[in-house]
Amino acid sequence: MRGRTAFTMEREMDFDLIDWEAMWRAESVHSYPRNNMSPKELWDKRADSFGKRVNRVKDGEARDKHDYISQMLERIEVRPGWTVLDIGCGPGTLAIPLARRAASVTALDVSSEMLRQLESQADSLSLTNIRYVHSSWEEAFAGSAVCSHDVVIASRSLMSGDIGTAVSHIAAIAREAAYITSPIIHLPLDWEAYAAIGRGDRRHSPYICLYNMLFQMGIQANVEILHPKVRVEFPSIEEAIDDLQWRTVPFSSDEKARLREFLQGKLRQIGDPAVFTHEGRSKWALIWWRKRDQ
Ligand SMILES: C[S@@+](CC[C@H](N)C(=O)[O-])C[C@H]1O[C@@H](n2cnc3c(N)ncnc32)[C@H](O)[C@@H]1O
Repeated sequence: MRGRTAFTMEREMDFDLIDWEAMWRAESVHSYPRNNMSPKELWDKRADSFGKRVNRVKDGEARDKHDYISQMLERIEVRPGWTVLDIGCGPGTLAIPLARRAASVTALDVSSEMLRQLESQADSLSLTNIRYVHSSWEEAFAGSAVCSHDVVIASRSLMSGDIGTAVSHIAAIAREAAYITSPIIHLPLDWEAYAAIGRGDRRHSPYICLYNMLFQMGIQANVEILHPKVRVEFPSIEEAIDDLQWRTVPFSSDEKARLREFLQGKLRQIGDPAVFTHEGRSKWALIWWRKRDQ
C-alpha cells in the first residue's frame, strides 16, 4: 500500500513532464496501413469518393440526427457575427453549413481537390463568405496565413503530423471556442476488412494524449464520445475493394480474393440497379473548450 501511494505521488508530481505528444506519435504507427503518399497526394486522390462515401456534402445540410455532420453542428456554437476557421475542411462538410450561420469561414486544406469541391458547392449555394486557404496547417501556422478566429475547428483532420504544434496554435488563435475530433474508430468497415486479410489490429493514436496536451497548456477541455452512423454504398464489390485500396500499399491477388469473400458476406445488396451497402458506427472523441470557461 505504501509503495502504491509513493508511486501515485511521484506520478502526480511528474505529470507535467510526460511527453504526450511523443506518446501520440509512437501510437500513430498502429493507425491505418499507409503508403508513402504525402497528405496532399492522399487526399487529392480521395476527394471524390470522400464526398460520396462518408460525407454526402450535397446541399451542405445534415442528413439525420445520428450522423457525424448533424452531431457536430448541434454542438458547435457559432453566433451570427463570429468568424470560423475550419482546419482540414475537406469538401465543406462543416464549412458550408457553418458559413450560413457565421459572419465568415476560413476554409483551410492541403488538398486542392477538396477545396475545388467546396468552392463549387459554395458557388452553387451562392455563399460568398468563405475564404479559401490552400495550405497544410503546418505551413499555415508557421507563416501568417491564419490569424485569430472566434471559433477554430479541426474535424477529422488532425491524424498525423506535428500534433503538439497544431494543438498549441489552435489554443492560441481560438478567441471563443475550439472543437477538435480525434478518431477512435474512423471507418468501421475498413478496419474489419483490413483485419480480414491479416492487416488488422489497427488503432488510432489515443485522443487522451491530445486532451492531456491541452491540460498541460492550462486548458480544461470537455470530451464527448460520439457514435455517428456510417453508411457506405458501392456500385459493385470490385469498387468496394478499390475504395479500400486508397491509403494502403497495393493488395496482392490473394488479398483481393479474400477481400472479395469478406465483402460478399458483409455488404448487403439492395435495389435495381443493385448497390452494395453497409451501415456501422464510427467512434470519435470530440474535444472542445470555450475560452470564457478557462
Ligand atoms: C477526413 S477529411 C475531413 C474533412 C472534414 N473536416 C470533415 O470532417 O468531413 C481530412 C481532411 O484534412 C485534410 N488534411 C489532412 N492533412 C492536412 C494538413 N496537414 N493540413 C491541412 N489539411 C490537411 C485533408 O486534405 C482532408 O480534406
